[in-house]
Amino acid sequence: MANSSTTKLALPFLLTGCLGLIYWVLGRFVADRVDPLILDYLLTAFLVLLGIAVVRLISHGLFAFAFRKRKGREAPELLRLVVSIVGYALLFVIVYRGWLGRDLSTILATSAVVTVILGLALQDTLSNFFAGVSLHFEQPYYSGDAIRMGALFGKVVSVSWRTTTLRTNDNSIVIVPNNQIASEALEVFPLNNLNRRVLRFPAPLDTPPQEVIDDVRDAVQGVANVAKARTPAVRVHDYAESRTTFEVLYWTRDYLWTQDIDAQILRRVWYVLARSGRQIPVPLRHVFWERGRPGRGEATGDDYDQLIASVGILEPLSQEERAAVVGSLVCHLYAPGERIIRRGDPGDSMFVLRRGRAEVAVDIDGGGVRRVAELGSGDFFGEMALLTGEPRTADVSALDEVEILEIRKPAIRRLLEENEALAEAFTDKIAERQAELAELAEAGEDAEQPLERSTILRRIKRFFWLD
Ligand code: CMP
Repeated sequence: MANSSTTKLALPFLLTGCLGLIYWVLGRFVADRVDPLILDYLLTAFLVLLGIAVVRLISHGLFAFAFRKRKGREAPELLRLVVSIVGYALLFVIVYRGWLGRDLSTILATSAVVTVILGLALQDTLSNFFAGVSLHFEQPYYSGDAIRMGALFGKVVSVSWRTTTLRTNDNSIVIVPNNQIASEALEVFPLNNLNRRVLRFPAPLDTPPQEVIDDVRDAVQGVANVAKARTPAVRVHDYAESRTTFEVLYWTRDYLWTQDIDAQILRRVWYVLARSGRQIPVPLRHVFWERGRPGRGEATGDDYDQLIASVGILEPLSQEERAAVVGSLVCHLYAPGERIIRRGDPGDSMFVLRRGRAEVAVDIDGGGVRRVAELGSGDFFGEMALLTGEPRTADVSALDEVEILEIRKPAIRRLLEENEALAEAFTDKIAERQAELAELAEAGEDAEQPLERSTILRRIKRFFWLD
């Protein structure tokens, strides 16, 4: 870019210098042998080139320095063009009339006729041109902004003197004539502005609103491209015959992502409702009674029993104890990216992963988010807060669609009371995980020393009144 503008500036000066030199050499040494008319033409060409060089120099000084310094951005291409055209027109008048001494009136008379003919022929082009001029001066949008005009929605790629080019969500390019943009109502979503978006979803009428509001707000917060600067809001929009309509208000800095964000939020809403045993209400007209294969998430008692038997830490359990655990399990589904456990929250359950992968991560002061572990089917988590009564030590989020089985505190209490070895096994695991966490946090300010094994065991016993 810088190279091309340097060439544009240097070339006319170079040519002017060459012509000046030729003119000087001819005039000085061989003037008597050269036709004076040729010298005249040479001088005219020299002056024209000098004029072009000066116009370019002025335009460069004006836009590359003065405009950029004052406005902090590049000058619009069209403004440069208009200034250059005016400069060249002046140059033409000076050379034609001042230097060559010709009369401009004949040219003006001819050009008036030409102008009328051209004006009629180029009506549309000219109206686009002037619309482009007004867009350049008003600058209602910049490259990168999203705009909506009627059914058309896309991101501004460039604005020329005749058209504005948009890239749509389907990654196609739409070229809109400027006069169309200037004459229609336009909605602009500036890039990096906190643009608000409202998304509605239905829930069954018997859903307690506050429950949905809290859970969905939490679920929306982690969605990619939702601005972190404003907390999303969830509220009731209305109650209708068979449903409550909620609306999510979220903010995003790049409005082009809203289709994507909406889809992710709606997906998470399904999981939030499913976890509380509810379904998205739809108007039902037909009832199909079908006997088919069990669905992907459906499980039998045997499945759960096998899974719990495969969890290493629960090995000390007898068959009856394991059956009691299986009987108490509560299954939950999470969408990819959803947070299951938040660091610092209280917790009175632990979970066994039945399907999918989950990530354990901590946000270290000054060190960003660090992944601690990736868990898969048969792994468990949430035991640290459950057994010691301390807040959750890490965030745990779903990486895929995840199905987890919850073991609640009363079930664990019964097991601990009956099975001494279980507390020992949990103590070992907690000590091991605490050591890993402490190692990761070493660099951060919130680094905590891992507890001694005996201290952990004492805490578990005290917390569950086992002494
Ligand atoms: P809890 O503290 O209740 O909640 C966060 C959970 O992340 C924690 O219990 C453990 O189950 C899990 N966790 C913490 N550290 C590790 C680790 N180093 N490896 C695997 N899981 C961990």
